[in-house]
Amino acid sequence: MKLLNMRTSIAIHHIGVGVGLWALSSCALIEDNKEPGWEYAPQMYVSTPYEPYSQVKKNSINADGKNMRAPVAGTIARNGIGYDNTVLELMHNYPISRDSVDYAGRVLRNPLDNQDTTLLAEGKYLYGVFCSSCHGAKGNGQGKVGLKYAGVPNYKDSRIPGLPSGHIYHVITLGKNRMWGLGSQIRPEDRWKIVLYVNQLRGYKEPS
Ligand code: HEC
Repeated sequence: MKLLNMRTSIAIHHIGVGVGLWALSSCALIEDNKEPGWEYAPQMYVSTPYEPYSQVKKNSINADGKNMRAPVAGTIARNGIGYDNTVLELMHNYPISRDSVDYAGRVLRNPLDNQDTTLLAEGKYLYGVFCSSCHGAKGNGQGKVGLKYAGVPNYKDSRIPGLPSGHIYHVITLGKNRMWGLGSQIRPEDRWKIVLYVNQLRGYKEPS
């Protein structure tokens, strides 16, 4: 009886070791085959809403089956356009930090013809849209918002008429102190047009 029990327990032991070895070897197999194994709780990985950057199933709504939409024709890439002080410079790769306004004044040159009256007229229009609420139509800081938003300077006051055009461009792009930047809303070329008009308001002549 005792002997039988011992034999049975040895047998059971062998089966146990066998199963263990099989489990180990199947793990090794999984590794060999690069088999991802079981995914636990897939709803934690696969999002129910459509995600542009991860897709498991074919999208049944978009014709090409993809979640991510292709950019519309004529889209301009944000990266890849180097900064070259031309109208192509976009907010994304503007290379000067906010507090380096003096540096901007030294290195940036207005690429537009400052004798062109059409550009000046466009600058006046854009100034009316983006700046006059604070700075006032005449640039005296008396716009309706400017009256409440303290500290808007008069363009004719002391130092402003002497600032180079690049300084004004930089202030439009990234702002200065209490004025925030408008670069994300105004295209570079349009910022330079505004500079032409601000130059007129503050009585600044571009050195030739
Ligand atoms: C919400 C109000 C507001 C708007 C809109 C605004 N500004 Fe300003 N701006 C200010 C304030 C406030 C200052 C003073 C900043 C400071 O504290 O130095 C300022 C300062 C300036 C200066 C003087 C910078 C210097 O070095 O002293 C210029 C130039 C200027 N703004 C141009 C513009 C132009 C151009 C636009 C439109 C594209 C514009 N601002 C839109 C509020 C505004």
